[in-house]
Amino acid sequence: MPVFPAPEAVAALSRLDEPLPDTGRPDAETAALLREVAAPATVASTGPDYFGFVIGGTLPAARDADHWVTDHDQCAVGHVGSPAAAALERVAGAWVLDALDLPRGAAVAFGTSATAGGLSCLTAARHALLARQGWDFAACGLDGAPRLRLVVPETVHVTILKAARILGFGTDNLVRMPCTPAGTVDPARLPAFTDRDIVVLQAGEVNTGGFDPFAAVIPAARAAGAWVHVDGAFGLWARASARRALTEGVDGADSWTVDAHKWLQVPYDCGMAIVREPEWLARAMNAAAAYAEGQAGDQMHLCLEFSRRARGVPAWAALRSLGRDGIAAMVDRHCALAGRIADGLAALGLEVLNAPPPLNQVLARGRDDAETAAILAHVQGSGAAWFGPTMWHGRPAFRVSVSNWRTREAHADALVALVVAALDPSARRA
Ligand SMILES: Cc1ncc(COP(=O)(O)O)c(C=O)c1O
Repeated sequence: MPVFPAPEAVAALSRLDEPLPDTGRPDAETAALLREVAAPATVASTGPDYFGFVIGGTLPAARDADHWVTDHDQCAVGHVGSPAAAALERVAGAWVLDALDLPRGAAVAFGTSATAGGLSCLTAARHALLARQGWDFAACGLDGAPRLRLVVPETVHVTILKAARILGFGTDNLVRMPCTPAGTVDPARLPAFTDRDIVVLQAGEVNTGGFDPFAAVIPAARAAGAWVHVDGAFGLWARASARRALTEGVDGADSWTVDAHKWLQVPYDCGMAIVREPEWLARAMNAAAAYAEGQAGDQMHLCLEFSRRARGVPAWAALRSLGRDGIAAMVDRHCALAGRIADGLAALGLEVLNAPPPLNQVLARGRDDAETAAILAHVQGSGAAWFGPTMWHGRPAFRVSVSNWRTREAHADALVALVVAALDPSARRA
């Protein structure tokens, strides 16, 4: 199938615009619509030629585990909802901490995404910092509370901005830490941290894959009494690979987010909120009710969701399928492929903006904006591969993300060949 659906397949989706049936339709007919109308208009992001965003694929073991979750339809609030899911998620959480070498006593909440995880962690941070100021946030709310600052990198991910809006920090009130040209926090220009600061750092900046200087920032921020949160949606997995040095000092933070549905090759949706002192996440997310008290450590007391899918189970299966060596091999292979693509693009005279790529992301642009647009249009329209646009330092660029477990050298080379064709209209015609 084409990597991005053909216009005819997209147009055929209009067949789905039918009125709600008065009388139920046969299951076989519903399945046929999914198969014949919807499936041809899907994006082949589970395949090896998809280089958009940081999507990741689906390992067979994770897919099977996801089917298990659906088949058993467990309401995985905790032990009372599903002893099996609770046990599997407990093991998965411990394995995540082990793989990422984070504090082993930390709480691991399996939620929908890094967005949800970031929101959860920042909420926990607010509870903790206000409690240290003698303020009970759960009981008294924000009205009259000591004012906290949210301190973020200039390049902060949009989902942290979303959390800032939801939590009432206000995006105009953010303290933005200046970054180096590589898009990571400049350790020479840090603000003076206080015990009223929630400081966000990034493991894997979304364009460049860059890492903030944890060893320089985290001890300084925590010594001042700040809470440090690390957004590691995809990049934190570098800690389980030969690129571990990029994450040096990251374990000193108070909380972390990392996705399973991106680099760990788990189907959507599964992301984690990890909090060093479980108490703060539990205080923020506690969902005890007279009819559903649960046990400490139950996922319903750690996640945004109350009724919830057993999202940790496919993550458990992926970790078991890959093992420590498999995670490292995959991450290392993807980083090497990003380097290979970057070299290929540079050899064509394109500007690689994060050369050499620190991780699995290649950020590049054409010799002028028109060439960048032509490359994007050709690749996206080809059906052979796909990557997406971005803006970098005020000018259009494109991002190539290597994050699918099936991607190998041949796919990387085919992608570069596609760019060659985009640059050379005669090759394109051929
Ligand atoms: C650095 C970073 N943080 C957060 C997110 C949001 O992750 P999710 O899509 O799982 O909510 C992303 C997604 O690309 C990201 O790259």
